[in-house]
Amino acid sequence: MSKRVLTTESGAPVADNQNSASAGVGGPLLLQDQHLLEKLARFNRERIPERVVHARGSGAYGHFEVTDDVTGFTHADFLSTVGRRTEVFLRFSTVADNLGGADAVRDPRGFAVKFYTEQGNYDLVGNNTPVFFIKDPIKFPDFIHSQKRDPFTGRQEPDNVWDFWAHAPEATHQITWLMGDRGIPASYRHMNGYGSHTYQWTNAEGEAFFVKYHFKTNQGIRSLSSEQAAETAGKDPNSHQTDLLQAIERGVRPSWTLYVQVMPAAEADGYRFNPFDLTKVWPHDDYPLQRVGRLVLDRNPDNVFAEVEQAAFSPNNFVPGIGPSPDKMLQGRLFAYADAHRYRLGVNHTLLAVNAPRATVASNYGRDGLMAANSQGRAARNYEPNSYGGPTETGRPLSAPLAVNGHTGTYETPLHTKDDHFFQAGELYRLMSEEERSRLVANIAGGLSQVSRDDVVEKNLAHFHAADPEYGRRVEEAVLALRED
Ligand code: HEM
Repeated sequence: MSKRVLTTESGAPVADNQNSASAGVGGPLLLQDQHLLEKLARFNRERIPERVVHARGSGAYGHFEVTDDVTGFTHADFLSTVGRRTEVFLRFSTVADNLGGADAVRDPRGFAVKFYTEQGNYDLVGNNTPVFFIKDPIKFPDFIHSQKRDPFTGRQEPDNVWDFWAHAPEATHQITWLMGDRGIPASYRHMNGYGSHTYQWTNAEGEAFFVKYHFKTNQGIRSLSSEQAAETAGKDPNSHQTDLLQAIERGVRPSWTLYVQVMPAAEADGYRFNPFDLTKVWPHDDYPLQRVGRLVLDRNPDNVFAEVEQAAFSPNNFVPGIGPSPDKMLQGRLFAYADAHRYRLGVNHTLLAVNAPRATVASNYGRDGLMAANSQGRAARNYEPNSYGGPTETGRPLSAPLAVNGHTGTYETPLHTKDDHFFQAGELYRLMSEEERSRLVANIAGGLSQVSRDDVVEKNLAHFHAADPEYGRRVEEAVLALRED
């Protein structure tokens, strides 16, 4: 094999990559040493801002294959035929810690899928939990501030974590989930993924449905206890990355089966609780799971920075046949992600290979800006309408319109008397075996007992009491026992 020549970034051959150019053998260095300047300057710019949440992650490519006919519910092209395959990129992540954290921690996991469809990229940016801590986006920055490292101490502070939760009774369901056995997945392969929000599907007749996505792992659910996790994180902070990378390199093809719960749009108004409340699940008795297809991962990225760190998922990247619901959290997210990408990666992040459409071509009048790499043809006009055959709109809405009524204002979502903030948390607790309950109680008490203010502890205890009297009593006893130690 002939030797390849090392070059500068402009392609000129490099004479010496071991010694800087100097004035004489021991002399000061020369400003004319382009290779040295370029190397140091590029090195200084190797890091970009990490994601403000979900900073640590791992990604892989694969495909999604439709196994069941869902054309009665959506006219999305990539879901239109049984057997149809669409390339995907999936990024998994932890949420709260910075890039320098560990994988094996108690935290929700991100489950973000990019479907490279022929009608454009469809991003489904979900978690491994079917619900979330809050239901209004205006609380998200406060919530995240309370869970991430404190600006003064530089640590995650139990005082902040539980103080926020003391003021967020709607978080009780997700806390029960997080502190339970599924709170620390053994690996990214051994957990489910959920769209979590309610989305809207529209079929070819224009009929609208509300749907919730469930990706069930075909590897089986495996979790770590708090003790196992501490040991794993100490031995290999990148344990999830190691597992995913090595499994795929070995030829293992992790897969998930996608199901949806489908609610005809007309039923939303009369449903007994707000079906757009992200802190609640839809009971499967009301809306059973219907199988859609299978997602398979089979290829590791060639370069983690280029493809995983620079991946950009936005819940607002829909394709015809799929759209948003009125879920307020989702509505906030429709803005937040692309805005984060413009800051983190720049306005032209959609030109990067991992983010650009693969099964179609982006055709529009956006031009220029930092890192512009798309000429779009020398004669292409950059305004519309034009007389030169430039791209034009279809006139067909992507999804059915959402009904609106009432007056503008800031509203708390009304709660049903039975399905309040606590009911589903209690249901989840009552579903658990005795062993699961004991571990849940011990995990909650382990955190809550570190809180310094009594009123914060009491407010949190009141939430567990409201979810289930036994749940509340056991957490209270465990907290008291630990605080007396
Ligand atoms: C990442 C905002 C709620 C799942 C992010 C990022 C932002 C953000 C700014 C970083 C984006 C980037 O730099 O690329 C918000 C806001 C929320 C919210 C404002 C609520 C109003 C949620 C919920 C879920 C979720 C409810 C799951 C159901 C994710 C995932 C990522 C992420 C998976 C990482 C995506 C990736 O792998 O690149 N979020 N988020 N977020 N968020 Fe959220």
